[in-house]
Amino acid sequence: MVRMTPTEKIWHNGRFIAWDEARIHVLSHVTSYGSSVFEGIRCYKTHAGPAVFRLKEHTRRLLDSAKIYRIPVSYSNQELCNAMVELIRVNGLGECYLRPIVLRGYGGVGVLPSNNPTEVYLACWEWGKYLGAEALSEGVDVCVSSWTRIAPNTLPALAKSGANYMNSQLIRMEAHLNGYAEGIALDANGAISEGSGENIFVVRDGVIHTPPLGSSVLPGITRDTVMQLAESLDIPLRETVIPREMLYVADEVFFTGTAAEITPIRELDNRQIGEGKRGPITEKLQSLFFDVVAGKAPQYQHWLTLV
Ligand SMILES: Cc1ncc(COP(=O)(O)O)c(C=O)c1O
Repeated sequence: MVRMTPTEKIWHNGRFIAWDEARIHVLSHVTSYGSSVFEGIRCYKTHAGPAVFRLKEHTRRLLDSAKIYRIPVSYSNQELCNAMVELIRVNGLGECYLRPIVLRGYGGVGVLPSNNPTEVYLACWEWGKYLGAEALSEGVDVCVSSWTRIAPNTLPALAKSGANYMNSQLIRMEAHLNGYAEGIALDANGAISEGSGENIFVVRDGVIHTPPLGSSVLPGITRDTVMQLAESLDIPLRETVIPREMLYVADEVFFTGTAAEITPIRELDNRQIGEGKRGPITEKLQSLFFDVVAGKAPQYQHWLTLV
């Protein structure tokens, strides 16, 4: 279970308010129609103090998501980044998770937004490992979901919107009820898409494969990070449509995500993957990734915003 310890302040439309005051009216547009876009961002402990990982890129995706859904946002990327850094300071947090939310608020009650003000909230709290502390070294057992990922021309997969997570909830709940840590959804064509909250990478014969954005995947910031780290390590990587059965004959499979970081998969649909434990390529990428987020890799310092 993801536990959350309340902090003192939440940022709302330009000012700090008390945690318990961050409330919306039940008839806000977002509650009936899922009209929110949001982000999940991590702040890590480094030798130079707490640092937010790829803050600008996350904020860019937040504003892109709002643009796709025609939700007007009056704050710039820089203003939101500054506010998030200030929020961490105000709450006196070191390592934490940041959750910016942009939503359509209280006003008209029809599907067509009318007089629904945009409400921007920024919250943060302390948060541990998403799929469990052991998951990073031991790996997790997952299944292919009976639910298909949102198809093109239905909901835009490139947007990180609240509505998309109804699909994610179905995937995650089904996996959980059947005893798996996570589910992998296929896209509308039956090719591999992604987990309910993670992108996926498949390794075979020393080559890493990951589905392209056209396979209904969220353009993950960790996905992009891993692609760049693989290049720096001279590990070949192909962005390509991947058939389901490729999962079963893979040498290694791993998830990436802000929450899941880089999590190996040891068993898939009750078939052992590789040696049934974290593989060597996964370990190499994980090790570099954790150096990068801890500020131990000078060439990637530009990905860290010090608090
Ligand atoms: C559906 C989905 N795919 C992929 C990801 C990974 O994205 P990121 O690495 O930006 O956290 C997430 C998490 O935000 C997600 O919810």
